[in-house]
Amino acid sequence: MTIMSIDVSPIIKIERTQHSRINEVDFNNLPFGQEMTDHMFVCDFKEDKWQQPQIVPYQNISLDPSSKIFHYGQSIFEGMKAYKDDNGKILLFRPLDNQKRINISAKRLAIPELPEEYFMEGLKTLIKLDSDWIPTTEGSSLYIRPFIFATGNGLHASPSDEYKFIIACSPSGAYFGGKVKVLIEQKFSRSANGGVGYAKAGGNYAGQFYPTNLAIEKGYQQVIWTDDTTHQYIEEAGAMNIFIRIGDTLITAPTSDRILDGITRKSIIELAKDEGIKVDIRNISINEVVEASEIGTLKEMFGAGTAAIISPISGFGFQGKDYDLPEFENTYASLLRKRITDIQYNRTEDKFGWRVEIK
Ligand code: PLP
Ligand code: COI
Repeated sequence: MTIMSIDVSPIIKIERTQHSRINEVDFNNLPFGQEMTDHMFVCDFKEDKWQQPQIVPYQNISLDPSSKIFHYGQSIFEGMKAYKDDNGKILLFRPLDNQKRINISAKRLAIPELPEEYFMEGLKTLIKLDSDWIPTTEGSSLYIRPFIFATGNGLHASPSDEYKFIIACSPSGAYFGGKVKVLIEQKFSRSANGGVGYAKAGGNYAGQFYPTNLAIEKGYQQVIWTDDTTHQYIEEAGAMNIFIRIGDTLITAPTSDRILDGITRKSIIELAKDEGIKVDIRNISINEVVEASEIGTLKEMFGAGTAAIISPISGFGFQGKDYDLPEFENTYASLLRKRITDIQYNRTEDKFGWRVEIK
């Protein structure tokens, strides 16, 4: 089996914990993103450069109340996972894409870009150190959260001169318990042309909470975002990209200023094509989806993202009416979920070269 590998750099200063918390964690009942591993990677940006990177015991951080993160929200993050195969090999999935994307986000939020090796070596060294925390129970993995935020002081509304880059990890189970029922949103927008929707900026998520709470009050679990200009076109599903199957064609919106260029999305597109499934990357209107539902050609809808992998949608609400999706075996969602997780957990050949082993 071909697995790409990367080397470890010696530049990181490591302080190991004296008190591992690993025995306090129930690895058979892992929630998503609640338990944190023993260590974290930290690197500060000061005096115009990224400083000596370190790995330290997972701990609180202390910040001046005038730190710019609290006032102007200069913060970005990534989401990725580490997997352990049946032989104990540790694997990442397309990590260079996360490294590139954090710098795309950094640029948009006026945050200094990270040198590639700080991201990759930090990640690799931290995961090796906390490798006992990678869960092996079915459906679980080590969720990895790299993030950068503004630590410079002062209330002037201008970019910070100091930042902190942290990588923290959490052994995690499934993000959603089962199928989700979604509400197509036409009043609120997640993002706008010229905005920050394509970046993984913390504020993008804060802005989703209120409309999502309103949807939850009405009995839905997630919001389907539509374009901010006409609210006629379907764009994303909460913190996931969206796929819609009409007949035997899989449709997903093209990426834009408003949509996150998801790594799961682009992998699913390639895997679907590899399966001989017709994939259309085009704008898809709510009318088309409603009509397809009414005439019975709407077969599946699912969200795709690192945390949720592939999350099937059971039905959607639109303008006061609920539309159910059909239940059947051998869905594209289950086929593509198996294809992607088999690659991630090293259960199959990886002809795309997406897996990276950490040695
Ligand atoms: N869209 C949004 C808004 C997200 O937050 C995410 C999650 O990361 C995704 C899509 C899926 O992206 P990826 O597959 O790279 O995790
Ligand atoms: C991910 O899928 O990794 C994300 O970043 C979504 C997150 C908000 C849980």
